[in-house]
Amino acid sequence: MYPPLVYLNGVFLPPEQAQVSVFDRGFVFADGVYEVIPAYGGRPFRLPQHLARLDNSLAGIRLPNPMSSRDWQAVLARLVEAGGSEDQSVYLQVTRGPAPRDHAFPKQATPTVFAYSQTLKYPDPAQLAAGVAAITVPDIRWQRCDIKAIALLPNVLMRQQATEQGAAEAILLRDGLMTEGSASNIFVVLKNTLVTPPKGPFILPGVTRDLALELARAHGLACAERAVTEAELRSAEELMLSSSTKELLPITRLDGQSVGNGKPGLLHARLHALYQDYIRDFRAGKVE
Ligand code: PDD
Repeated sequence: MYPPLVYLNGVFLPPEQAQVSVFDRGFVFADGVYEVIPAYGGRPFRLPQHLARLDNSLAGIRLPNPMSSRDWQAVLARLVEAGGSEDQSVYLQVTRGPAPRDHAFPKQATPTVFAYSQTLKYPDPAQLAAGVAAITVPDIRWQRCDIKAIALLPNVLMRQQATEQGAAEAILLRDGLMTEGSASNIFVVLKNTLVTPPKGPFILPGVTRDLALELARAHGLACAERAVTEAELRSAEELMLSSSTKELLPITRLDGQSVGNGKPGLLHARLHALYQDYIRDFRAGKVE
C-alpha cells in the first residue's frame, strides 16, 4: 500500500502524481543515498542523528545536502502528520538528479529529493517472543558500507536468500568476521557481554545500534565494540539485530542451529525493556 502523500522536489502530492525523470541518476546508476527514520507519537525519533548520518552519506558521494536541517524537519513533520496517529516510518532519499547518462558527475544537475511516511510495521509479537531465524552469507558488498546508499542490490539478494530459507535476516561475513545484517546491525552476547563490531567502512553506523549501546552503558550492562569472529558468532550465548524499524529483535536460530538455549536471552530482555522505556519517555517529551 502506498502512502496518501509524498514529498518530491519541494511539493507535497499524491504518489500517483509524483513523477521522476527516467534519466534520474538514482534510476540509472543508483547514484543516491537514503534514510529510514521511525516516528513515535507524531515526532521523528533521533532525528539529529539521522540527519547527521544523511550528511555523512551525502559527503561520501560528494553531493551537497540540498536542504537545511530546518527544511528537512518541516518536510518530515508534515509527512508524519499526514500519515495519521499511528507510529510511522519515514523514508527519504536524495539522488544526483536527472542528466544525460555519463558515469562522471554532470556539470549541472538538480538533486532529486523524495520522501514519504507510512505506518510503522512492528515485528510480529510472536517473533519478539520466540526470536527469529537468520542465515550467514558472504558479505558481497563494496568497501563503503558506512554510506547509506540506495544501491542495495547485494542486500536485496542476501535478504532474498534468507527469505527463501525461512529466515528473517542474513548475517554477513567478511574475511572471517561478522559485519552486520542485510538491513540491520548485529549484537552478540559473549560471556554476558554485549558485543558489536566497531564503526568503520564495513558497517552502517546504525542509529538504533548507537542508542542501544548508550542505554546499555548508562545502565551498567557490560558491552564492547570490537571485531566478532565467525566462531564467536556461532558460539554466542545470545544474538540480536537492531534497526529503526525492527528495534531490537532476538535471533534464536542461526543456519538451522539453536542460538544459546534457543530462546531469547536475558540481555535482550533487559536491553529491549530499556529501549521501550526510552521510547515511552520520548513520547512523553522527557527525552530527545
Ligand atoms: N536499514 N545496517 C544496514 C545495512 C541497514 O540497512 C540498516 C537499516 C541498519 C540499521 O540502521 P538504523 O538502526 O539506523 O536503522 C544497519 C533500514 C531500516 C532500511 O534499509 O530499511
